[in-house]
Amino acid sequence: MRTIEWDHDRDCVVMVDQTKLPAEYTTYHAETIPELIESIELLRVRGAPALGAAGAYGVALAARRNEADDFGAYAEAVAADAEAVASARPTAVNLSREVETVTTELRQCTSIPEARERTLAAAEEIADTDVERNKQIGDHGADLLADGQTVMTHCNAGALATVDWGTALGVVYSAHEQDKDVDVIANETRPLNQGSRITTVELQEHGVETTLIPDNASGLCMQEGRVDAVVLGADRVVLDGGERFGDQGVVFNKIGTYKHAVLADRHDVPFVVPAPHSTIDTERSADEVEIERRDPQELREIYGTQNAPEDVDVYNPAFDPTPMELVDYLVTETGVYEPPLDRATFEEVDDRVTVE
Ligand code: MRU
Repeated sequence: MRTIEWDHDRDCVVMVDQTKLPAEYTTYHAETIPELIESIELLRVRGAPALGAAGAYGVALAARRNEADDFGAYAEAVAADAEAVASARPTAVNLSREVETVTTELRQCTSIPEARERTLAAAEEIADTDVERNKQIGDHGADLLADGQTVMTHCNAGALATVDWGTALGVVYSAHEQDKDVDVIANETRPLNQGSRITTVELQEHGVETTLIPDNASGLCMQEGRVDAVVLGADRVVLDGGERFGDQGVVFNKIGTYKHAVLADRHDVPFVVPAPHSTIDTERSADEVEIERRDPQELREIYGTQNAPEDVDVYNPAFDPTPMELVDYLVTETGVYEPPLDRATFEEVDDRVTVE
């Protein structure tokens, strides 16, 4: 199955439960809006494009669950649910963007049955589009890789972070389709270990030769010449760096991305960021992007076992900003771009929806 989809029999959202990986490959059915929000917060579903689909299906779920008789009251209640879904995680722009896309569809409806049908159809279209554009990103990105090369990746920007295929790992899968034997070094990605728990599983399933390393070994791997490219995803790309980064764009991605960009720069390793246009936020500057801070317990404990004094202060940011000067290639469904980026190119494509 896809990472996230609509279960037509149960009329609800079904997703691969990524909190259970690698021990179990199971699914979770979100039958209600609180269940969907909890799934986003706990990272049952995660990764920017998959969160976009979760947001889109969330509006459809709200539209199909709400029992109001009066259309005005109904539309208001569904929009409030949609807003709650959009706020479940702040950094990945796809979540709020796709909630907004489907909410816009809702606003054009004039009856409850029409809203129920059109919101689900819009969500399905968003999910289908995600898969198509990931293949396009993969094909463009694979052109940057040669047979026999090794890619380092961080976190999980694969099929499980999208509806299917993936962005960063999609580039690897597309390279394999081009008969290039590309293998992957997967960073463990502390503290939630998306690299060891998720990336390794899906790479092995795709038959990609995979080596897991602790995050702290990435510098050594580059010193030893084991890495031909760092390829990883993005939660939000902004074109205006704000006070800290000035004119240049910024890639917000999993905490540790910045460190790997600096290391790649130091070792002349190309730093490649594949991401769809829906992850590019042309409206905001870096100053306006909220970096999610997660529960201190994620560091004080490891899988339920104490890892630090219970009262130690913890700073647990989930993402970091990497300035475009450290990015060699941004790969989207429309091609490969070498920073500095031309704002007009991205504004032209980003005409589908205004992100709230
Ligand atoms: O906290 P997560 O697991 O949702 O973080 C995911 C990432 O940082 C990914 O690299 C990003 O969303 C791109 S997914 C194609």
